[in-house]
Amino acid sequence: MDSKSKDLLEKLKNEHSLDIKDYEYLLTNRDENLMDLAASYAREFQQKYYGNKVFIRGLIEFTNFCKNDCLYCGIRRSNQKCERYRLSKDTIIACAKEGYDLGFRTIVLQGGEDYTYTDEMLCDIISEIKSAHEDMVVTLSIGERSKESYKKYYDAGARRYLLRHETANPKLYARLHPKEMSWQNRMDCLKNLKAIGYQTGAGFMVQSPGQTDYDLAMDLKFIEEFKPDMCGIGSFISHKDTPFAKEKSGTLEVTLFCLSLIRLIYPQVLLPATTALGTIHPKGREMGILAGANVVMPNLSPTNVRKMYSLYDNKICTGDEAAECINCLKQRIASVGYEVVTAPGDRVGHCFSSERH
Ligand code: SAM
Ligand code: FES
Repeated sequence: MDSKSKDLLEKLKNEHSLDIKDYEYLLTNRDENLMDLAASYAREFQQKYYGNKVFIRGLIEFTNFCKNDCLYCGIRRSNQKCERYRLSKDTIIACAKEGYDLGFRTIVLQGGEDYTYTDEMLCDIISEIKSAHEDMVVTLSIGERSKESYKKYYDAGARRYLLRHETANPKLYARLHPKEMSWQNRMDCLKNLKAIGYQTGAGFMVQSPGQTDYDLAMDLKFIEEFKPDMCGIGSFISHKDTPFAKEKSGTLEVTLFCLSLIRLIYPQVLLPATTALGTIHPKGREMGILAGANVVMPNLSPTNVRKMYSLYDNKICTGDEAAECINCLKQRIASVGYEVVTAPGDRVGHCFSSERH
C-alpha cells in the first residue's frame, strides 16, 4: 500500500467523498493491505450503525420473460435457449406466505420486464400481500416503467424498489445494451422512484466487459451523489447463451473492495452480499459481509423454476427449498460472527413520510 492510497482511504473514511480520479487511483493501486484496511474501516461503520446484524430479504423471481435484450443477461429476449416461465398471482402470493411463515418481513418481487403483468395485476398482487401480512415490506425489482406506474405500485403498498443503474458511464451503458435502451431513462426512473418516496436501490455490475477503473470510479461517485438507500453490486458473470459468452467474469477481490469503499462512502447504506458473489466464490457472501455488506437475499421462488431464472452461468441456490436456503445462509453468516435478523431492516436514518405500509 503506497502512502497516497492510505491517505485517500483515510480521507474517504472521514469525509465520505473523493474526486473520481482519486477513486480511480484507489482501484488501480489496490493491493491486499489496502483492501484489508478498507474492509476493517468498513466493518467499523457496519458495527456502528447495524451492529453484527445482517438483514434478510426473500427474493421471488416471478417471471423470466423480458422485453429487453441486455447483452450480458441470460434471460434477454433473444436467448432462444432460455426456457420461459411466469408465476401466477396465486403462486406469488403463496411464496410470500411461505416467506412470512419462515419469518421474512421483506420480500422482493423481481423479474424481467414483462408487461403481461399489467399495472392492475401488479397492484392487485401487492395489495393482497399487504392485506394478508400487514407488517411485510414489499419491494419491487421489475425494471423501467413510467412514473405513473411506479406511483400506482406505491399507492398499492410497495415501499422499496431496486433498479441498478448498471453503469454510471453512458458510453459503457451503450456497449452493454442494445440501441433502443437508454441510460438517461434508467437514471430518470431512479430519480422518479426516489421522488415518489420509495426506499430506492441502485447498483452496478463490477468488471462488466470493457469496464475500466475510471468507469468503476464513476459508479462510486454516482453512489456518493445519489445516495441510494440500498446499493446492489455484483461481479459480471458470463452466460454461455449471450453475446458476452466468451468475456471474462469479474473477480471476487474487486467486488469486495468496491463493497468496502461503498460502506465508507455511505456508512448507513443497505449493502447486499449478492448471489453473484456467492457464485464466484463458495464463501463469497461471507466474505462480502466481512467487507462491509449487511443484507442477504435468499431465494423464495418455487424450486421448479429456479434454474430457469438463469442470469449467468453456475448461479447458486437453484436446487434448495426456501427453508433450506435460509438455514444455510444463517449458518454461513453465523460462521463469520454475524446474526441474521428477519426484521424489515430499514436503512438507519430513513424515515417514511407516512406510516410504513
Ligand atoms: N428486470 C429488472 C431490472 O432490469 O432491473 C430486474 C431483473 S435483472 C435480471 C437484475 C440484475 O441482474 C440486473 O440489474 C443486472 O445487474 C444483473 N445481471 C444480469 N445479468 C448479469 C450477469 N451476466 N452477471 C451479473 N449480473 C447480471
Ligand atoms: Fe431483462 Fe435481463 S435483459 S432482465
